[in-house]
Amino acid sequence: MTGRNTAAVAFEQVSKSFGAKQVLRNVSFEVPAGQALCILGRSGTGKSVTLKLIISLLKPDSGNIWIEQDEITRLKAHELSRVRRKMGFLFQDAALFDSLTLYENLALPLLRLTRKSRQEVDFVVDKVLRHSRAECVSALDWPAH
Ligand SMILES: Nc1ncnc2c1ncn2[C@@H]1O[C@H](COP(=O)(O)OP(=O)(O)O)[C@@H](O)[C@H]1O
Ligand SMILES: [Mg+2]
Repeated sequence: MTGRNTAAVAFEQVSKSFGAKQVLRNVSFEVPAGQALCILGRSGTGKSVTLKLIISLLKPDSGNIWIEQDEITRLKAHELSRVRRKMGFLFQDAALFDSLTLYENLALPLLRLTRKSRQEVDFVVDKVLRHSRAECVSALDWPAH
């Protein structure tokens, strides 16, 4: 389904339950391009579930979720991958993979999602790190945390 939505993100009557617990019931909202939306609420009210629905880590039980022109609840994996490249997502507790070094964390999306050679990736990551704070340069071989 494409073509309807003009917002960056839109929920249409989205519901999500885990077992008997209904977390979201017919939630609708739109975030126009260029605007920020802050979701506030007490612990356990569904903020993280909402974010996971936006990046399609979870699927809703009903309703539609739009990212620009794509209705993402029915997209196939490779189409979803294309949409996800427009998104950044920082997890609450761990922004990096702790099994990888800082260098490997930065190289991962370039190796997975682009056609850059290992040499080009090395060049880009090195440049980014060298332009970051000086401590990063000496931390290339450290674990992520
Ligand atoms: N994968 C899951 N399985 C079962 N229950 C879940 C799952 N994810 C979230 N929940 C439940 O959904 C509710 C909302 O969770 P969450 O969105 O993480 O809350 P918060 O607003 O604190 O981010 C909570 O009751 C939580 O226990
Ligand atoms: Mg949360």
